[in-house]
Amino acid sequence: MRPVRIARNLCAASGKDKANPRKRERIPSATLREAACLPPISSIPVRIRARQTCPLPGTGRRRGVEFTPLLPDKARQRVATLSLVSQTGNPGAARYVHSPEHKPGNREQQDQIVSEQDPLVIFTPSGKRGRFPVGTPVLTAARQLGVDLDSVCGGRGICSKCQVAPAFGEFSKHGVTVAKDALSEWNAVEARYDEKRGLKPGRRLGCQATIQSDIVIDVPPESQVHRQVVRKAATERVIEMDPATRLVLVDVTEPDMHDPSGDLQRLQAALHAAWQVDLGELPLALLSKLQPVLRKGNWQVTCAIFQPAEGKAQLLDLWPGYFEGPLYGLAIDLGSTTMAAHLCDLANGRVLASSGLMNPQIRFGEDLMSRVSYAMMNPGGDAEMTAAVREALNQLAEEIAKEAEIDPKLIVETVFVCNPVMHHLLLGIDPVELGQAPFALATSDSLSLFASELGLDAIHPQARSYILPCIAGHVGADAAAVALSEAPGEQDDLTLVIDVGTNAEILLGNRSRVLACSSPTGPAFEGAQISSGQRAAPGAIERIEIDPETKDPRFRVIGCDLWSDDPGFEAATAVTGITGICGSGIIEAVAEMRMTGLLDASGLIGSAEQTGTVRCEPDGRTHSYLVHDGSADGGPRITVTQGDIRAIQLAKSALYAGARLLMDEMAVDTVDRIVLAGAFGAHISPKHAMVLGMIPDAPLKAVTSAGNAAGTGARIALLNRASRKEIETVVRQITKVETAIEPRFQEHFVAANALPHASDPFPNLSALVPLPDLSFNTGGGDGTEGGRRRRRRRG
Ligand code: FES
Repeated sequence: MRPVRIARNLCAASGKDKANPRKRERIPSATLREAACLPPISSIPVRIRARQTCPLPGTGRRRGVEFTPLLPDKARQRVATLSLVSQTGNPGAARYVHSPEHKPGNREQQDQIVSEQDPLVIFTPSGKRGRFPVGTPVLTAARQLGVDLDSVCGGRGICSKCQVAPAFGEFSKHGVTVAKDALSEWNAVEARYDEKRGLKPGRRLGCQATIQSDIVIDVPPESQVHRQVVRKAATERVIEMDPATRLVLVDVTEPDMHDPSGDLQRLQAALHAAWQVDLGELPLALLSKLQPVLRKGNWQVTCAIFQPAEGKAQLLDLWPGYFEGPLYGLAIDLGSTTMAAHLCDLANGRVLASSGLMNPQIRFGEDLMSRVSYAMMNPGGDAEMTAAVREALNQLAEEIAKEAEIDPKLIVETVFVCNPVMHHLLLGIDPVELGQAPFALATSDSLSLFASELGLDAIHPQARSYILPCIAGHVGADAAAVALSEAPGEQDDLTLVIDVGTNAEILLGNRSRVLACSSPTGPAFEGAQISSGQRAAPGAIERIEIDPETKDPRFRVIGCDLWSDDPGFEAATAVTGITGICGSGIIEAVAEMRMTGLLDASGLIGSAEQTGTVRCEPDGRTHSYLVHDGSADGGPRITVTQGDIRAIQLAKSALYAGARLLMDEMAVDTVDRIVLAGAFGAHISPKHAMVLGMIPDAPLKAVTSAGNAAGTGARIALLNRASRKEIETVVRQITKVETAIEPRFQEHFVAANALPHASDPFPNLSALVPLPDLSFNTGGGDGTEGGRRRRRRRG
């Protein structure tokens, strides 16, 4: 028996008293009772005032009567549908469908009564299905089934976020045949949208198209709120879109002499009714903007709502009428040497631009401890460093917005990951406690604040900032971001994650346990403290190979895919020139020098006589290896000096010692997987890293690169609210190992000074790359004399 919905438009005429149009008219209870007793006819919406309770006695499921909200034409019209099922016939044939997402006041997720004869609607790719009465909008069906279909305008046919692609024909998999007229005809709203903005062929607006018969409807990725964004890197990572800030369109009730509420209160009520948003306090700057915006938009406004994981939502901005956006967010990896940012579209997660700047705090000290001591020795030094980094962050925001050709004032969110010292200096907290045991943080919890509190005035004045939690006094929010990005605690394999930077973050773990430490590698891996070093930019040498016979190098520079001995290289690099060596280039250069016998295991560069190449030229009491001489054309002479080798040795020893300390703690000598992360982690060759002894010995195929894992962690936290909660939980479960007070760290550091290592075996490396067993130390200690070689056992 088909259930029958009976209704009458009980709001006679306009529902208003003609003598006093503002006076609200109650629908007589008798009229409603009468409606319940009417014979089955059809379904007609019943409009009543929202504040009026349904006067029917015994309203509810038992009586087969439902009183549910309806999506109105205009939000300010409080309307509701009274759906009645006939008490005659067989009520068992009717099925009551309740959306699990239904909340009181959500007008789009209404309860309905359907029968087996109602059209079947199947959504793909989710596979969710259900029956809906003829005439139900696709958006409403999607909402009731919990299908992820976007909407900013709440179904007014303005935003086009609800686009769907109906499919027609025979679908044996679903057991349905979809007729050409399974959806209502193209309506005027769709036609107008198509004319103005263009709809892709085959697309319909989900809020306009209504269901007429069985239908299969595809929700394309761009119409999904929680669409998944795949990170383009060596290890793919899926980020589910669920940003804290989104745009919503609402209709606000006009002021009424009989309802003396403020505009803000009516906006709050509208947001609650339409989007279940509970708005917190409004900053004065926005409050003063509210009235003109509401009136300019004829009581329709688009709100940028920041919804934290817990607590009340915040209004970041509002625009009259429909504002399409987009809004943007910045994910910032604030490192000791460089600061890197990704500018993301908060609607779809797309990275519009990535940019970096050198951290200007370098002038106060190249590593973290020298910055802490600058703050200790110079009253007001911490404030100086805070001002420097904040100024650079504003510059970075402006530059990245310029690169992406967007207004920086549309950047409404920032997420920061940084080490503890940078964390404190960014916040304007003196880092002095981090320079002495027990290395107490001012706070280890995550922070959510206004970006303006961090001095970020280049972006939106109400923009929010989220700073990931720190793990410990020397293991910061950057390590937490790496844990979020690489998730070692979710791996079966024992995984070592090394985020290479001025301060390396190292994580070791699997499902049973995760350990973390940080290690002071210094800025050498980032091209600083290297005689010909530079940051990774066009013109920088990033790859080097040295011929084992001739000892001549060939190289590639950033911005050109050709090798230096390829035809056309000179022309291809004419604009950028060959300007220096970046971090990945110096790692390959040193490793190649070791592999080709230009460098011994202790890290000494041989003379021309010892090595057989004039490229090893005297440089004071030591030697340098000439990579490229551009002086004839006014370019630089690019060399690798003995000082460069020592800087790399110090950096790699610190890295290895940190990893080894965690392995001791875990009581293992080998790991299953090594993930190299860091701003240039994706560019480091695993083979060369192992020749240097940067990382423990492992099969090469077990060593992968993850790119800027800390930056990716920041991006995940920017685009997915739940991940913030997740990492706040995960950091509490990580065991911290403090390298600064661990005596074994020093032992491991000294042993790791050799290339690749003084005592630890490297069987996988030996099988792959037999390293020359030689020593250039002639006893004079300067490595400049003679060509005497002696055999030496390599560790
Ligand atoms: S929901 Fe905005 S156009 Fe359909």
